[in-house]
Amino acid sequence: MPLLPLEMPVAILQTESGSYSDSAAPARAIFIQVDEVILFFLIPVATTDIPHNPAAQLLSDSAALAYRALPNNPSGNYAPAIVSCPASRPSVRRADGLSSNETAWLALRRPATVDPMVEFLNRANISGFDAETYVRNAAAKNLSSLPNIAIAVSGGGYRALMNGAGFLKAADSRVSNTTEAHGIGGLLQATTYLAGLSGGGWLVGSLFANNFSTVETLQAGSSGSAIWKFDNSIFKGPADKGISIVNTAEYWVDVAHQVDEKDNAGFDVSITDYWGRALSYQLINDTDGGPAYTFSSIALTPSFTEAQTPFPILVADGRAPDEKIISLNASNFEFNPFEMGSFDPNVYGFAPMEYLGSNFSNGSVPSSGHCVRGFDQLGYVMGTSSSLFNQFLLSNLTTLNVPSIIISAIEDVLEALGNANNDIAQYVPNPFLNWNGPLTNPGASSLQLSLVDGGEDLQNIPLTPLLQPARHVDVVFAVDSSADTDYNWPNATALRATYDRTLLSNLANGTTFPAVPDDNTFLNLGLNTRPTFFGCNASNFSIGAVPPLIVYIPNAPYTAYSNVSTFTPSYPLSQRDEIIQNAYDGATQGNGSLDAEWTTCVGCAILSRSLWRTGTETPEACTTCFNRYCWDGTTNSTTPAEYLPTPKLNGNVTTTDNSAAQRIGGGGLGMLVGSVAAIAAVLLL
Ligand SMILES: *[C@@H]1O[C@H](CO)[C@@H](O)[C@H](O)[C@H]1NC(C)=O
Ligand SMILES: *[C@@H]1O[C@H](CO)[C@@H](O)[C@H](O)[C@H]1NC(C)=O
Ligand SMILES: *[C@@H]1O[C@H](CO)[C@@H](O)[C@H](O)[C@H]1NC(C)=O
Ligand SMILES: *[C@@H]1O[C@H](CO)[C@@H](O)[C@H](O)[C@H]1NC(C)=O
Ligand SMILES: *[C@@H]1O[C@H](CO)[C@@H](O)[C@H](O)[C@H]1NC(C)=O
Ligand SMILES: *[C@@H]1O[C@H](CO)[C@@H](O)[C@H](O)[C@H]1NC(C)=O
Ligand SMILES: *[C@@H]1O[C@H](CO)[C@@H](O)[C@H](O)[C@H]1NC(C)=O
Ligand SMILES: *[C@@H]1O[C@H](CO)[C@@H](O)[C@H](O)[C@H]1NC(C)=O
Ligand SMILES: *[C@@H]1O[C@H](CO)[C@@H](O)[C@H](O)[C@H]1NC(C)=O
Ligand SMILES: *[C@@H]1O[C@H](CO)[C@@H](O)[C@H](O)[C@H]1NC(C)=O
Ligand SMILES: *[C@@H]1O[C@H](CO)[C@@H](O)[C@H](O)[C@H]1NC(C)=O
Ligand SMILES: *[C@@H]1O[C@H](CO)[C@@H](O)[C@H](O)[C@H]1NC(C)=O
Repeated sequence: MPLLPLEMPVAILQTESGSYSDSAAPARAIFIQVDEVILFFLIPVATTDIPHNPAAQLLSDSAALAYRALPNNPSGNYAPAIVSCPASRPSVRRADGLSSNETAWLALRRPATVDPMVEFLNRANISGFDAETYVRNAAAKNLSSLPNIAIAVSGGGYRALMNGAGFLKAADSRVSNTTEAHGIGGLLQATTYLAGLSGGGWLVGSLFANNFSTVETLQAGSSGSAIWKFDNSIFKGPADKGISIVNTAEYWVDVAHQVDEKDNAGFDVSITDYWGRALSYQLINDTDGGPAYTFSSIALTPSFTEAQTPFPILVADGRAPDEKIISLNASNFEFNPFEMGSFDPNVYGFAPMEYLGSNFSNGSVPSSGHCVRGFDQLGYVMGTSSSLFNQFLLSNLTTLNVPSIIISAIEDVLEALGNANNDIAQYVPNPFLNWNGPLTNPGASSLQLSLVDGGEDLQNIPLTPLLQPARHVDVVFAVDSSADTDYNWPNATALRATYDRTLLSNLANGTTFPAVPDDNTFLNLGLNTRPTFFGCNASNFSIGAVPPLIVYIPNAPYTAYSNVSTFTPSYPLSQRDEIIQNAYDGATQGNGSLDAEWTTCVGCAILSRSLWRTGTETPEACTTCFNRYCWDGTTNSTTPAEYLPTPKLNGNVTTTDNSAAQRIGGGGLGMLVGSVAAIAAVLLL
């Protein structure tokens, strides 16, 4: 498979060859992999001082005006800050339940979901069932009998961001027309947990970075803001107007400057820092991509403290020291506004998000030690969830149809980065140093915690946090934008990976998952072209091991071809909107035109576990829905024909499938990053 740089960067690669590994090099080499794509670019670093951007100061000055996720890094910029520890010193806790913060927040959130849920279920018109009385009684008697809803948004780069956005838009009662008959508006307001991974994590992170704005607001954008302007690729940076900066050259210089601030403050930096910074210009609506925004600041925003939003969770995989292959055995980490850590039995601990970067050892910061704040930078966390590099090391570069000079330059760089464990998101110091001991926790004696893209273990939908028994989730709307088939459609590989992981006795630790069939069955039965429910029958599981009902929402064409390639780096805004609209139309089944009872069936999915728990008979309308949408255990594993779905609705299919046009020579894609002569080349693996 070829590497095809748009502008052949051979001269520069030759010049710089062999000098990337060290900060003394005049160029920075940056490798970013998103799913199957490797982006490679060089940023020449001026040997003279990088001009300081006064915008950072402006940002910290304007902190008092802040209202979104807050730029509350005490440094006022991207660098973590060393601070005095609070009187109650931060510590790591065992993962034997939820944090007290989460528990306290749930005590506000669960009741706050009651009204939206009642409204939704009334609209769902479940014949013969008084949803309002049922839900209000449940809430009055015992909150834990209330339906507990989660949404999980998969990875898959911009495709996943846009497809996930369409679902969330349809589910958001603040968006006009979503609460008309056949809409699913209010589902988001009734939801307790919202998890994102990789591209889905960009979506979740971006919503929370922007005052839990609606997708509609972010699509509309605002003048001078680069927010969701996906027509400018992150390699070029924002258009040169307004608060959001300048030109491509200055953009990369600013990114490099921000990362240098972290470096100069004594913290290890990795490729993920550049990646996260570049992403943030499009995802965080503030000057320079909000370098001082932290993930933990989400917990300080009014909409979160008042429990008007779901609980955001991003996920990443742990890579054990010296490990290259990521398997299902990889530790699954999660980031939430309060904590970062893992429920897996080996790590089995959570560190306070706000104080990541402090020198925890065996769970506490030494009494002589200081604390660190600002390490949990929001863009860095989004970048962590989407930082895929190490699989690249395993690929056989020489089989690629690329000029050998480029291959050897790339191999040199990868080697150097790989040896330094510099190809992933570095969490140094490791918050779980000496935690649980090396026999239990393979990373316990490592000074650094290496995190990689949450989808690298093939669990491309962030389900693990939602399967934790302590969270008692009843139903997960699992939005899958994975590119599993030849044409970038999902075939539920992600669900199977999660199912398989729950069968690993050494890791499952109480998590269970409904059985899901093989890929061929998915295609043969069309389970990936329409919503499908898994695990409908709670009695099919042992008591105490009942997983949530999974409402699988696969990316499929309704009104547009939403299967854009993961390696398309930019999208005309019209195409962005068509893909979002396609997912909206999937989420509502064409405003009911594909199934007039779809909203009813969503209501039944929400209620299913609660009805079972309270011993309430299933309404007949729900039985009809379950017969229609539940996988009944049938399989058909014969080899299917090639999967080439066409839009189901007659809507104007105006999306030109331009990704083919953007592929150069049919296989590769490259970008010349503006006049700064930074170079990007893309490898298809
Ligand atoms: C509710 O469902 C009943 C029968 O299931 C149907 O007759 C009625 O029109 C529906 N109401 C609305 C508002 O859709
Ligand atoms: C609420 O119900 C759960 C199980 O559904 C039970 O464990 C808990 O004790 C109940 N709480 C109260 C206050 O009744
Ligand atoms: C809402 O529905 C009305 C009436 O069908 C339509 O005119 C309007 O364009 C819709 N709004 C959006 C945002 O789709
Ligand atoms: C943030 O969102 C809340 C809730 O929608 C709203 O009341 C508030 O005005 C918003 N703040 C800003 C600055 O947009
Ligand atoms: C972006 O931020 C600016 C300045 O705070 C604000 O005026 C604008 O409404 C925001 N745009 C969006 C789409 O949130
Ligand atoms: C996962 O861990 C188990 C137990 O340590 C081991 O038997 C298995 O081979 C591992 N699987 C992989 C794919 O590494
Ligand atoms: C953490 O430990 C490292 C290595 O001992 C030290 O260089 C660093 O200053 C410490 N950081 C803080 C905040 O105490
Ligand atoms: C999208 O899917 C259609 C078939 O459903 C296929 O013809 C097209 O080539 C695909 N586009 C991409 C970019 O994979
Ligand atoms: C989960 O793992 C922890 C730590 O190894 C262990 O103490 C706990 O009993 C396990 N829980 C279940 C349900 O297996
Ligand atoms: C649910 O599963 C149980 C146990 O496997 C079985 O007895 C029951 O018939 C199933 N119910 C439905 C509606 O399929
Ligand atoms: C569904 O309704 C929404 C909101 O009114 C509208 O924007 C969209 O075009 C409709 N979709 C279809 C397929 O009719
Ligand atoms: C019920 O569970 C069994 C084993 O756990 C599984 O093989 C079967 O497919 C499940 N049935 C359905 C309909 O999910």
